[in-house]
Amino acid sequence: MSGGDFIDIRDFSREELEGMLDEAMRRKKARLGWPKAKPDADAPLSGHLLAMIFEKPSTRTRVSFDVAMRQLGGETMVLNAGDMQLGRGETIADTGRVLDRMVDVIMLRTFGHERAEELARYTGVPVINGLTDLSHPCQIMADAQTILEHKGRIEGLTIAWVGDCANVTRSWIEAATLLGARMKIGAPEGYRPDAEILDWAKAHGGEILLFDSAEEAVRDADVVMTDTWISMHHSEAEKEKRIADLTPYQVNEALMAAAKDDAIFMHCLPAHRGEEVTDAVIDGPQSVVFDEAENRIHAQKAVLLFCLGRL
Ligand code: CP
Ligand code: NVA
Repeated sequence: MSGGDFIDIRDFSREELEGMLDEAMRRKKARLGWPKAKPDADAPLSGHLLAMIFEKPSTRTRVSFDVAMRQLGGETMVLNAGDMQLGRGETIADTGRVLDRMVDVIMLRTFGHERAEELARYTGVPVINGLTDLSHPCQIMADAQTILEHKGRIEGLTIAWVGDCANVTRSWIEAATLLGARMKIGAPEGYRPDAEILDWAKAHGGEILLFDSAEEAVRDADVVMTDTWISMHHSEAEKEKRIADLTPYQVNEALMAAAKDDAIFMHCLPAHRGEEVTDAVIDGPQSVVFDEAENRIHAQKAVLLFCLGRL
C-alpha cells in the first residue's frame, strides 16, 4: 500500500522500491521528446500543491521536483528557509503544522536528519527528504534508474564507492542491500560509513566490503561512484585536510581502467572537478552523470505518486 513519508530508502521494501523504479521508467518513456512544460497524459496530481523548503542550497533537487510536480499536473512553491520564520527560530514542528493545512506534500532539504523526521511527525501530509546530513534517498532512486537503463539490472552488480562516505553513500548502502547489489567501498580511516549503517546492512543480508585502496575497491566494478569531498555540512576549516587525505581516492582515468571495461561512472553532482574526479572521467565515454541528473525528474515523479497513495 503506497502513501506516507519518504525519509530513507530502508523504510521501504524491495517490491516498493522496484515499483517506484518501474513507474519512473514508464513515465520517462511515455513523454520522450515532449516539451518540458507539457503535463504527462494522465496528469495524476492535478490540483495538488508541493511545498519545497530549502535550508541548504540546491540546483538539481529544486528544479527536478518543480518539473516533476508540474508534469504530474500539480503546482509547486519554493520556500527558502532564510525567507521564512523558520530562519528566525520558528520550530520545524509548528512550521509543519501550518503547512499541513495549506499544501498536499512537503519536500525538505536540511541539516540534521532529525529535522526531517520531526517535520514528518508533525504533519499529516507526506514529507519527502530532499537531503539531510545523513541521507539523500531521492538521489538514490535516480541513480538506481540510471543503472537499470545502462546495465539492465541492479541485482548481482558490483558498485564501487570511492572517497568520502557521506549522505549519498549511506543511502546507497541501504539501496544496495535491499536491491541485491554488492558494494565495495574504498576510503581511508575517518571517512568510512559509520558502524550503525554497516551493522544494519549486515543484519539485512547486505554485502558491503571496505578497502583501504581505491584500486582494490574498483576492481571488477560495474559502477564507479564518488561524491564531493566537502559536503554542505562540512566546515571550510576541514577543507585542506580532507583534500589531502582523500587525494589518493580521486577518480581519474587510471582508476577507471582498474574497473570493468564497460563500467559506468556516476556522481550525484555538483562535482568539484580536479578534486574527487578529473575532467577526463566526468566528460568521458563512461560517464552517465547527466542521465543521472535528468532521472531526478522521473524518479521523483514516482516518489511523489507513491507518497500521495497513487502507486
Ligand atoms: N545531487 C543533488 O542533490 O544536487 P543539488 O544539491 O543541486 O540539489
Ligand atoms: N554529499 C553532498 C551531496 C550533494 C548533493 C552534500 O551533502 O553536500
